[in-house]
Amino acid sequence: MGVEQMAAGRKLEVKVKVPATSANLGPGFDAIGLALQIYNELTLSVAEGSRSEVYIEGEGADSLPRDESHLSLRAAAALFKAAGLEPPPWKLRQFNRIPAGSGLGSSSAAIVGGMLAANAFLPRPLSREQILELAVEMEGHPDNVAPALYGELVISCREGRELRTVQVPTAPGLRLLVAVPDIALSTPAARRVLPQQLPREDAVFNLGRAAALIAALSAGKEEVLGWATEDRLHQPYRCPLIPGAEAALAAARRAGAGGAAISGAGPSIIAFWFERGEADPREGLISAALREAFAAAGRRCRIFSTLPDGHGALCLAGPPSR
Ligand code: HSE
Repeated sequence: MGVEQMAAGRKLEVKVKVPATSANLGPGFDAIGLALQIYNELTLSVAEGSRSEVYIEGEGADSLPRDESHLSLRAAAALFKAAGLEPPPWKLRQFNRIPAGSGLGSSSAAIVGGMLAANAFLPRPLSREQILELAVEMEGHPDNVAPALYGELVISCREGRELRTVQVPTAPGLRLLVAVPDIALSTPAARRVLPQQLPREDAVFNLGRAAALIAALSAGKEEVLGWATEDRLHQPYRCPLIPGAEAALAAARRAGAGGAAISGAGPSIIAFWFERGEADPREGLISAALREAFAAAGRRCRIFSTLPDGHGALCLAGPPSR
């Protein structure tokens, strides 16, 4: 960073709010993701000393690194590198509500948050499309990153390094419950069990359902969600890694959820439906069903009740508050 930019940057404090995301939603493996109203907030400014400082509250406060290896700072460094600049030492403050390592896009939120905040310090900020490509390169999969950045339901297709995305608004009334069980499952471990090749009929099975899922979520067709969340690309291979998952998927549907799926690579389960008026009792019923299914497998779970996020990551830049 040049001296002038550093001087300008020192006067800045940038606050970013990034939504959680649920990727795949059943048949949309590596392609479909939905932003949720569960947010991580991070505040970035230039540190006064020569080393970066990291302060974390909320989810992951006991386990996330507090130095340059923090994912948001690595993302900030990657963005500066792409702009041909050296990053300054940062002061990063984070308040996390997205459970880490749960299949709710906490890594994407960290990367998108770090890049978006650092972008405000560049003399010539990158576009959201450039940030998307950099973030996907770092994260590996677009289906969490794109909705974290843009909000709503996003379909992503990769063409080499280039990324094509379509944002689709969901119909009013979409309700979501996420059960986060006390199970450790990393994305690499959940990808290692997937086959390299699949029969053509499995590809065709998923194609129709993924298209129907988008139609159902955007038009509010709850009656379609049950079969439109069926999948043969990843869930049959991942369920055995998540005790209680298969039972939880079935129990959520029996309790009234239109659809249910493993969230991202797991271990969380997401259930969704379209609310029918204020007296719709399904939230309590589905929540109890999810808890019982995991309890029967000897697991506890936390339940998050949420809604789709409509705007994606937001960035507020201003003078430091201190
Ligand atoms: N689509 C990815 C997967 C999401 O299911 O492995 C995790 O980043």
